[in-house]
Amino acid sequence: METINVALGERSYDILIGEGLLEDAGEHLGPLAKNGRLLIVSDENVWSALGGRLQAGLGGIDARPIVVAPGEESKSWAGLESVVDRLLAEGVERTDHIVAFGGGVVGDLAGFASAIVNRGCRFVQIPTSLLAQVDSSVGGKTGINAAAGKNLVGAFHQPSLVLIDPSLLDTLDARQVRAGYAEIAKFALIEDADLFGWLEQNSLAVLRGEPSARGRAIAAAVAGKARVVEDDERETSGRRALLNLGHTFGHALEAETGFSDRLLHGEAVALGCVLAFDFSVERGLCSAEDAARVRAHFEAAGLPFALSSLGLNGSGARLAAHMAHDKKRADGRTAFILVRGIGEAFVDKSVDLANVAAFLDRAL
Ligand SMILES: NC(=O)c1ccc[n+]([C@@H]2O[C@H](COP(=O)([O-])OP(=O)(O)OC[C@H]3O[C@@H](n4cnc5c(N)ncnc54)[C@H](O)[C@@H]3O)[C@@H](O)[C@H]2O)c1
Ligand SMILES: [Zn+2]
Repeated sequence: METINVALGERSYDILIGEGLLEDAGEHLGPLAKNGRLLIVSDENVWSALGGRLQAGLGGIDARPIVVAPGEESKSWAGLESVVDRLLAEGVERTDHIVAFGGGVVGDLAGFASAIVNRGCRFVQIPTSLLAQVDSSVGGKTGINAAAGKNLVGAFHQPSLVLIDPSLLDTLDARQVRAGYAEIAKFALIEDADLFGWLEQNSLAVLRGEPSARGRAIAAAVAGKARVVEDDERETSGRRALLNLGHTFGHALEAETGFSDRLLHGEAVALGCVLAFDFSVERGLCSAEDAARVRAHFEAAGLPFALSSLGLNGSGARLAAHMAHDKKRADGRTAFILVRGIGEAFVDKSVDLANVAAFLDRAL
């Protein structure tokens, strides 16, 4: 088992990573179970695939499951209201720990519910999707979607503990595994060229779920994200914003495809990273060789790598219009994460959206 500490003063916490950790959940969560009980938030898919394993791992702890419908729709005002009401019906108290047992949807929803119920109680993340294990369970961003856009309502609320058991991914759909993998590769592209080189050799082993390769990739991405979060917890200095590499382009593609199964978030991020590299090449910032390596890597991983493959009827201007509504905007400008090469991302606030639209027209 590997332990990564996130050092945030009184909000510090440990992330434990290990195959089969779920079987020891009781040992790690026992001290947090007030009066011997834990309130678990999960979704139907995760609970039916893995709820029994969690309950067995918790041993004598009284686990009270609150199970929501799977999918992004649960990350809504109505979904939040339902979870909060059910927590209150269980008599949740401020000293209780709520356990988020699921993918990013459950983590964001249960995390936000725990930030507001009784004016805030503690929570634990047991992420079950690869995306949640390497990205959303670490860093304390919680929230729901609003009519105006995704993730527009929420709170920074750090968990007390994160338990990452990569073996939980064995029941996850292969397409979802690939989508989560995109966030690992993204992290390497931002600031870890050595990790990217290692991924070029080992991505298929990671995707197949070979324990040592999978564990190493997850730990590298988590450790990297933990360092970024320590440095810039609330995305004020700009360093945390680097984690949005591929996301400004990606969100525009998600918006254009209606945030649907047509393009999963991680798939949009893969394509978004390719576009960020290509756009950086066009601006004379990055070598064409590095951009070609990035494209080849996502292609080998079975992720989308060519904008033309999406068959979008939209124009570059339409995609750029989505970017104009990106919540990462500050002072009326959209911040782009561009690159000087693999492992060398930076924030550029000087990009003109008209140039982006013209670039996308050529790529569509
Ligand atoms: N808070 C953050 O910092 C942050 C970062 C990135 C993404 N997110 C959010 O995360 C969400 C996406 O997360 P996601 O990709 O995990 O989606 P998800 O939670 O919807 O999970 C994807 C699907 O896989 C199923 N599933 C999850 N784990 C499983 C398992 N082990 N076995 C079988 N099925 C399983 C789920 O039921 C769901 O159908 C988005 O809402 C996004 O906004 C948050
Ligand atoms: Zn993402």
